[in-house]
Amino acid sequence: MAQDISAATTLDGWDAQATEQFAADTRVNRSPAHHSRRKDTFIATLAHELRQPLSAMLAAAEVVRMAPDAMVARRAAAVMRRQLGQMSRLVEDLVDATRWAQGKVTLQKCRLDLQRVMGDAVADVEGGQQIVVAGEREPIWVDGDQQRLLQVVSNLLRNAVKYTHLGGRITIVAERTASTIIVRVGDTGRGIEAEALPHLFDLYSQSRPQEGTGLGIGLSVVREIVLLHGGSVEAQSEGAGKGSEFIVRLPLAQNLELTPS
Ligand SMILES: Nc1ncnc2c1ncn2[C@@H]1O[C@H](COP(=O)(O)OP(=O)(O)O)[C@@H](O)[C@H]1O
Ligand SMILES: [Mg+2]
Repeated sequence: MAQDISAATTLDGWDAQATEQFAADTRVNRSPAHHSRRKDTFIATLAHELRQPLSAMLAAAEVVRMAPDAMVARRAAAVMRRQLGQMSRLVEDLVDATRWAQGKVTLQKCRLDLQRVMGDAVADVEGGQQIVVAGEREPIWVDGDQQRLLQVVSNLLRNAVKYTHLGGRITIVAERTASTIIVRVGDTGRGIEAEALPHLFDLYSQSRPQEGTGLGIGLSVVREIVLLHGGSVEAQSEGAGKGSEFIVRLPLAQNLELTPS
């Protein structure tokens, strides 16, 4: 069975289901031919992804070299900076994927307000799309790893920005039930085909690799982090062109009376 994350609706059923799915996946993916194909595709994607910023930086370096004045040089430097930012995100993704694969990631948990994490993620993300933070702003307490949860929300927001046209709308909201926190990141972007949904959270998986930028690592890291927190994540989309929604479920912090106000 493929990793149909959308089937996981409750936290209670999640662990057993996830374990079963991982086991099934490992069985399916054990064939050397499968590994080798996946690796080839990945290396091709990586080469492509590195070539783009490199050629932009080479061109910008040439502009700096020949720049008639400081203004032109500064503009070229800004291009280099942006491209370097993109490359370092790629490298961070790669480092992350390796660390997760080796099981080297541990959480440093503390009691934190998820609303603040969401605010920080929104403040960080760049793009011309409107980002709406909906819902109440009261603190929502989680026992979690601040950096890692920031990574979850940032990855989802960056994807929403990347896969939504300029002028599109991105919404982020957190809701609370008796025992669970639900974070929804929705967009009015290009949407996801039904057949791609079950594989979206697999490492190196991209729903349209021919169009993509990125390595297909972000969502697999999102899933790993959320699982380590005892939660689940699913993707929903009505199909191509219909926007997407990513839904993260996390357990609400225990013993809330102990939370400092
Ligand atoms: N908000 C979104 N809208 C449409 N497709 C998405 C969205 N988020 C993720 N995807 C699809 O899921 C794939 C995997 O995402 P991710 O793991 O973050 O890798 P990357 O962004 O590097 O391609 C993407 O390549 C894209 O096809
Ligand atoms: Mg991504």
